[in-house]
Amino acid sequence: MILVLGSTGKIGRELVPALLDRGARVRALTRDPSRARIDPRAEVAVGDLDAFEPALLDGVERVFVLTSGHGSDPLAQEQAVLKAATGVSHVVKLSTTGVHFGQTDPISLVHAEAERAVREAGPDWTILRPGTFMDNRFAWLHAVRGDGVIRVPEGDPASALVHVRDIAEVAATVLTGDGHAGKTYPLTGGEALTTRQQVEILGDALGRRLTYVEEPEAASRARMLGFGWPASAVDGIFELKRQSAGKEEIVFDTVRELLGRAPLTFADWAREHAASFA
Ligand SMILES: NC(=O)c1ccc[n+]([C@@H]2O[C@H](COP(=O)([O-])OP(=O)(O)OC[C@H]3O[C@@H](n4cnc5c(N)ncnc54)[C@H](OP(=O)(O)O)[C@@H]3O)[C@@H](O)[C@H]2O)c1
Repeated sequence: MILVLGSTGKIGRELVPALLDRGARVRALTRDPSRARIDPRAEVAVGDLDAFEPALLDGVERVFVLTSGHGSDPLAQEQAVLKAATGVSHVVKLSTTGVHFGQTDPISLVHAEAERAVREAGPDWTILRPGTFMDNRFAWLHAVRGDGVIRVPEGDPASALVHVRDIAEVAATVLTGDGHAGKTYPLTGGEALTTRQQVEILGDALGRRLTYVEEPEAASRARMLGFGWPASAVDGIFELKRQSAGKEEIVFDTVRELLGRAPLTFADWAREHAASFA
């Protein structure tokens, strides 16, 4: 049995069917099964990582550890799972490339600490460090549906964006295969794109012209605060952007090496989600 944390999130909803297709038994965790649309072949488990119930690990051999970037205290949540996971054979943790590059933004620091906890916990471990998700570009949804003007902070770094399905396929490969214990895999897409190129590719997939506009950081910051995001989260995002400039464009070959195929492209992602942007 494999316990999947974050089973209803961006990676989790791709990972659950990928594991089931490989013949694994899956226990999928959610706080709210009435809202969750989990593959019916999985066992649905109700629970909250802020009050982790060790019984969720009964009969579990492997665990996929993912905590939300918007959670209350991701480090404490992961530590609670690890404390209870003494009978588990293998833990696979979702981290970030920020740790690979030694970044000191708040998100990377929490993941670095959580990685240490996984390495010291006892069970075999594998760490997945993805770069920026293509799915982050859903942030452009309102602009695309509205006037088609996509405002991007000045100095936004070029990025080798990664498709969440590639991350999920790698996680499924690691969780159902051997030879990955003690390994740390940075995961990116196959090409670095500037934000301007990403906007052009999305426009091509939608068959319409989108306008790319760079704006001062203060204007982007004000817009994010206007969405109701906490100031600390907005600060963290800008600090991460500053620190990852020049690094986000580095392409790693791990997706190809682990999956035996090229990573999905941003054009693939844009075509797949064109209907959502309409
Ligand atoms: N976005 C990026 O570009 C990027 C890049 C590298 C790494 N990452 C990392 O990827 C991870 C996932 O980030 P995300 O914010 O996009 O999350 P997400 O996976 O899309 O969604 C959050 C998931 O966590 C579950 N969850 C949230 N709070 C929970 C709680 N208290 N107890 C149990 N389950 C809970 C939610 O399940 P329910 O609502 O069903 O309970 C949902 O399945 C983060 O660690 C982030 O740092 C992100």
